[in-house]
Amino acid sequence: MSITILAIESSCDETSAAVIRDGAILSNFIANQTVHEQYGGVVPELASRAHMQNIVPVIQAALQKAALAPGSESTGEAAAHMLLQSVNAIAFTQAPGLIGSLLVGAQFAKSLALSLNVPLIAVHHMQAHVLANLIEDPKPEFPFLCLTVSGGHTQIVLCESPLSLKVIGETMDDAAGEAFDKSAKLLGLPYPGGPLIDKYARAGNPNRFKFPEPQIPGLNFSFSGLKTAILYFLQENTAANPRFVEENLADICASIQHRIVSILLNKLKAAALTTGIDQLCIAGGVSANSGLRQAFTEMGEKYKWKTFIPAFQYCTDNAAMIAMTAHYKYLAGDFVDLSASPTARAEW
Ligand code: KG4
Ligand code: ZN
Repeated sequence: MSITILAIESSCDETSAAVIRDGAILSNFIANQTVHEQYGGVVPELASRAHMQNIVPVIQAALQKAALAPGSESTGEAAAHMLLQSVNAIAFTQAPGLIGSLLVGAQFAKSLALSLNVPLIAVHHMQAHVLANLIEDPKPEFPFLCLTVSGGHTQIVLCESPLSLKVIGETMDDAAGEAFDKSAKLLGLPYPGGPLIDKYARAGNPNRFKFPEPQIPGLNFSFSGLKTAILYFLQENTAANPRFVEENLADICASIQHRIVSILLNKLKAAALTTGIDQLCIAGGVSANSGLRQAFTEMGEKYKWKTFIPAFQYCTDNAAMIAMTAHYKYLAGDFVDLSASPTARAEW
């Protein structure tokens, strides 16, 4: 019997739904919320409202696309309805994230599971980011290391099996995505600034300005010093030349990106050398960064390590990664009952 799961992701400002069958993603729909751009960051109340507006059409779209998969007999709304009747489980992101956003996805998932009389699967968002590496071929073999870099987390994860993941290093203050977004804000760029720094950095010289690399012991990270260094650097230079930022934007972005990437990869390198693990992955929104992807691949070539990077749509928040994790949880019989609640923070 095949296993079909509908998964919902709503932890922050993307509403997403995906359908997975026997470990293969059939559809993955993502509705981005542009409402936050004008505020310089995600406004939790607005995010919850946008999830409420998006969740039905996003799930409909995911079901309709999945119903078109080879082997399906009919198309359109009727096919989507039939597919929904045949799902074996409903999965949702339980934590971490914005509580109001998580609640929308969790409540919807519970209602669906109850009405369809199928099991409910609760997924940890950070575990799902790691398992995004198992969606497409080539896939890493266990054990592997994953550098998970998002807007709220920066971790090095030792992965022994799909459901046995151990954090062996993490940030002590800001996440790598925050370092990108806060730097972008200082440069007057809108939220989220990470992709914009990436864009401007392509035309810039990464060695033009030197920003400090923090000396943190072990496999942990710190980004707060970098943010302060950038603030002082910009204050000093704009005092001397008010047009400093606009005249040097590409070089500033390239230099900031270069430093964030070197902080990340130096720790990942240390983790590979200390554990002796030679299969390396990256995951999370920041793994969409072109500078990180290139430097990561080059590091792998240099040390003869195998490197894996998820496709762009599986790097930033998406329900396909929730579905992939749910697939393994289904196989392990790891279900929750209707009393399962989302939480903003969660250890794993
Ligand atoms: O994983 P994600 O989509 O959401 C969280 O779980 O946080 O990550 C969002 C973060 C934001 O900080 C965003 O600026 C960053 O990922 N990001 C990037 C790029 N694309 C997204 N940072 C640098 N370069 C990019 N191309
Ligand atoms: Zn995320």
